[in-house]
Amino acid sequence: MNRGQLLYEGKAKSVYLSDTPDELIVAFRDDITAFDGQKKDSLAGKGGYNARISAFFFTYLEEKGIPTHFMGMIDDHTMAVKRLNMIPLEVIVRNRAAGSIVRRYPFREGQTFDTPLIVMDYKDDSRHDPMINDDIIIALGLLSRDEIQHVRDLALAVNRHLKELFRARGLDLVDFKIEFGRFGDTILLGDEISMDSMRLWDVKTGASLDKDVYRYDKGDVLSAYAKVVDMMIPKEFGGVQ
Ligand code: C5P
Repeated sequence: MNRGQLLYEGKAKSVYLSDTPDELIVAFRDDITAFDGQKKDSLAGKGGYNARISAFFFTYLEEKGIPTHFMGMIDDHTMAVKRLNMIPLEVIVRNRAAGSIVRRYPFREGQTFDTPLIVMDYKDDSRHDPMINDDIIIALGLLSRDEIQHVRDLALAVNRHLKELFRARGLDLVDFKIEFGRFGDTILLGDEISMDSMRLWDVKTGASLDKDVYRYDKGDVLSAYAKVVDMMIPKEFGGVQ
């Protein structure tokens, strides 16, 4: 598959056209950012870790019956995906209270939610991704009420499967963010699933193994990402086409 024109440059990924109109190429860069892009760095190898773990999770979730945009790896930091019409929502699933939910509401850091919470943010950097609700989603024409329910069901299924996988390796999935897009009439899981977009705590030590290490200067973020890749991806998972 040949890489065509650059279509979109995000904070950590670049998206290119391919030879085929309904397929795109996503290159995971080594850039890392936090706090709406106010903190920025480039860390050699980081893009590869996130691309490989995303490929692994997308493959695992497809096996569990969750439809995703993932088609295959082109090299260790580049993947081929179906071209989606992205829905500008950040769908956040929370198993425990951490981050913005603790700043905004009187939850105790680390408190477990009996039922996982789903929070949706409207994806727009210039508006600082405001939290959105069902009525606003419908009024903006982003999703119908039935589609909101479908997206919630998919997000909870992703949570169940990922949580189980992490738990078996001694990691606690605190929260994560996913994004969806339309491919014809179907809604597919898009974007990425990586340490940039989740909180993972070591069950024994409580240590963060995710982007919080970078956000709050908790140590060496590259070693944390490498550790998750090592713990999660079986040696036989090649992924590269
Ligand atoms: O910042 P907040 O606590 O709302 O983040 C919840 C989860 O969603 C975290 O795992 C965070 O890394 C992820 N997130 C993200 N991209 C954003 C906002 C949050 O991946 N723009």
